[in-house]
Parts: sequence; structure tokens; C-alpha cells
Amino acid sequence: MYNDVNVDRYLLSQYGRKLLTWNLHGTNAQEGDLAELVGLRHKHFIIRLVSGSTFQTHRGVIKHDDMIGKPWGSQIFSHMKSPFFLLQPALDDLIRSTPRITQILYPKEIGLILVTMGIGPGVHVLEAGTGSGSLTSALAFAVGNEGMVTSYESRPEMQELAQKNLKRLGLESRVQFKLRDIAEGFDETGVDALFLDLQNPFDYIQQVRKALKPGGFFGTLLPTTNQVTAVLTALRVNQFAFIEVCELMLRYYKAEPDRFRPTDRMIAHTGYLIFARPILIGEQEQSSELLSETGTIEKLDAWERN
Ligand SMILES: C[S@@+](CC[C@H](N)C(=O)[O-])C[C@H]1O[C@@H](n2cnc3c(N)ncnc32)[C@H](O)[C@@H]1O
Repeated sequence: MYNDVNVDRYLLSQYGRKLLTWNLHGTNAQEGDLAELVGLRHKHFIIRLVSGSTFQTHRGVIKHDDMIGKPWGSQIFSHMKSPFFLLQPALDDLIRSTPRITQILYPKEIGLILVTMGIGPGVHVLEAGTGSGSLTSALAFAVGNEGMVTSYESRPEMQELAQKNLKRLGLESRVQFKLRDIAEGFDETGVDALFLDLQNPFDYIQQVRKALKPGGFFGTLLPTTNQVTAVLTALRVNQFAFIEVCELMLRYYKAEPDRFRPTDRMIAHTGYLIFARPILIGEQEQSSELLSETGTIEKLDAWERN
């Protein structure tokens, strides 16, 4: 029977080790690779290539052996002569196809989150909640083998799904999953970056402050403006500076030289991104001019009042 556990067992017996399941480097499809098949009307499927297996759709059956060894970018035909392109899936494709039972973060926001929060090789990043693991996948990809993602989730069924999704990409070893309501706080301190994707991040800014190193990166995403203002207030009283709020609008174009124009539809709103950095106030000599420039002067007032 074709399922992930059996595939892992088979690959282990064939190769003596688990194969990298997401290969972006080679020129030809290999056994164990994740592959994307794109058929007519942009119908696409992501599968893991295993010798002896078959892939079945309403457009016919394709043997995995007919794909293994083929150059990426080739056309493949099902037994009903239905055509497909054989491609290496990008992180974008994998995230969009994440099996989910929650709202997920999408590549549009994830791209800015990664660069704004300095998420790269060797970084230790914390997140909550794990949800379906879409952001977790991107974080795990970015931190590399030397980095670490610690992901908190309060609901066991969500954690299980996210673990399965990370395993599908072969990235599970870079993630430490923790089942906990973050109201109880994080175990870690001094982490480089922390992202909250849950309804009420404003309730957990003190916990964030304790886990994040001074000068580290905080981020969150919220769909409504009243949630955003609640976060801004919480950040101000917890000594965060460089607070930024932004929204990303992405418009696709019809890539036709003769009638180049925007596509008819666009997603008008996903959420507001908030970024901020915890700073040290009152523990050393300080410049009120610099505090004022970074919008921190009110925070100093609030801190002195506490
Ligand atoms: C919108 S989903 C996160 C989606 C995720 N970022 C993704 O890209 O797939 C929010 C998740 O936060 C979890 N959650 C909500 N409050 C929480 C809390 N206080 N502690 C831990 N997890 C929490 C929920 O159970 C839910 O799974």
C-alpha cells in the first residue's frame, strides 16, 4: 500500500538511509524526490517518486518508473495520453499544497517575514501556533541544518498534521514541536526570532519578551485593525522599538505580450504584518534623542510609570 510510512520503510531498505525528499539541485528526477505534475488547465499534483508505484488521476495512470530518470521539465503522458509537465516543486508550490485544517500563512507574507526577521542558516526561531505547519515548513527550510525551529501548539490534532506535513518535505529534524498553550510561557530564552500566528498575540507579549533576546526579531500577522492596535499597545508597554505595520498586495499579470494586463481577480486582503524589536531601556546610559527617533520615548514613560 502506498503511504508515507511504507515509502520511508522501502527507501530505507533500498538505500540504507532516508532519502532527501525534496531535491532542488539535480537535473533528473530520482527515486525519493518530491515531484510536481502539472497537467491541462493548470491541474497539479505533488507526489513522491517510488519505483514500482503508480500515480492515478481521472486523466489516467502514470508509472513512477516512467518519470524516474527523466530530466526535470519533461512532458509525461498518462496511459490515456493526457500530458503533464514533470517539475521540481518550489517552496511556494509545497506551501500552497499544504494539507490543512487551519488558515495558513501564504508565500506572499512568508517571503517578507523571512527577510525582515533575519531568518537564515543557523538561526533559532520560535513560533506559535504551529497550525498546519505552513510557516513552520518555510522556517525549517530557511534555518538549514545548523538552525532550529521550535513550534508551540495547543491542539494535538494540529500538531500531528504539522508533523506529517514537515515529514513530507524531509524537514522534520529541524523542528522541535511542543504541545502547550503559550499563556504558560515558552521554555526557551535568548532566541533570535519569534513569530506569533494566533488570534490574540497581544495577550502574550510578556511571554515573547522573556523568550526573545534583546535586539531580536518579533513578528505577527492579524486580519483586523482592532487586533493590530491591541498589539501596538502591548508592544509599547513591553519595551519594543522599531515597530512597523504593513500590508502586502500582490497583483498577477497575464503574461501575454500582445495583451499584457492584470489578471481579472486579486485577493484584496489577507492580513496586517507587525514587526518589532525588543530593546533594553533604563539599564544603561541612554539617549532620549535616539529613543524619540525610534518611537520609544512613550515606552520609556510607560516603563517609568510601572
Ligand atoms: C492560524 S493557525 C496557525 C497557522 C500556521 N501559522 C500555518 O501557517 O499553518 C493558529 C493556530 O494557533 C493555535 N493556538 C491558538 N492559541 C494558542 C495558544 N495560546 N497557544 C498555542 N497555540 C495556540 C491554534 O490551535 C491554531 O492551530
